[in-house]
Amino acid sequence: MTRPNVLVTRPIMDDPLARLRERCEVTVHENEFGIPREELLQVVPGRDAMITMLTEQVDAELLAAAGPQLRIVANHAVGFDNVNLADCTSAGVLATNTPDVLTDTTADTAFALLMAAARRIGEGERFLRSGRRWIWGPLMMLGQDVHHKTIGIVGFGRIGQAVARRAKGFGMRVIYADAVQLPAEVEDGATRVELPELLERSDFVSIHTNLTEETRHLFGHEEFERMKPTAVLVNTSRGPVVDETALADALEAGELFAAGLDVFEREPEVNPKLLELENVVVIPHLGSATVDTRNAMGHLAVDNVFAALDGREPPTLLNPEASTG
Ligand code: DGY
Repeated sequence: MTRPNVLVTRPIMDDPLARLRERCEVTVHENEFGIPREELLQVVPGRDAMITMLTEQVDAELLAAAGPQLRIVANHAVGFDNVNLADCTSAGVLATNTPDVLTDTTADTAFALLMAAARRIGEGERFLRSGRRWIWGPLMMLGQDVHHKTIGIVGFGRIGQAVARRAKGFGMRVIYADAVQLPAEVEDGATRVELPELLERSDFVSIHTNLTEETRHLFGHEEFERMKPTAVLVNTSRGPVVDETALADALEAGELFAAGLDVFEREPEVNPKLLELENVVVIPHLGSATVDTRNAMGHLAVDNVFAALDGREPPTLLNPEASTG
């Protein structure tokens, strides 16, 4: 019997890859800067399954290039704004993501950025490493308290809720903005408010929405003007939710105290003005980047591939209509 042919667009963790190789012919694209589109189109024909990253666009052109035998695109991320679900469904291709397994790790990252931005950790480290003369001083590098403040969570899904749990440990009040009111047991003391009210009341705003046409540039000049000048913005969702130029202007003008950013509008490019500002903490999209979580994401992607190859419903299927229609 011929073994299924699988393309993995970037190296993933060894354990899930070894599992995949046990029953499939696997090609892993090794370029650390990702697979250029032209090359992807050339290597995809004939594949039965693909494990893709958020850096590849999965659309009708790619699916057509793969051919009618392609059964599944297993995205190695919880976010799937790079995957055109309608195109997958029309092509009869199952699409999956990797939710749940990265929830706590990404919430940890959001909280780390929140703390670092509030307490000027990056700036303090740069200062010490610069070798400049210093001595402890009562007015030196004062930040904002985190404990007992108000956090506004924009998008109260799994990761937003996990950030709320962490905030409660710091004695914070939690308010959230979401399209839907969550049941009281999920809210667990958090209060739903409209976005403008959230912006006005929050000392910390943490973004956890998906990227859609509705959420693109959800944060711009108007939203930053509404926020407190002492407020800190954290984004671990997707870069284009924030208008980066407007954010840089607001941070420079003192309309906001600081920002902690894991994601960028034109990733991997970072707005040069943000990099010049001391009150910005930036990390290169590390939200789910731990050994355990990347193993779990890899295993879930492989579980999804195996299910599709066996004709079973993948555990985290995004387009059930593809299997029936
Ligand atoms: C995701 O999973 O969507 C993250 O952004 C990458 O780990």
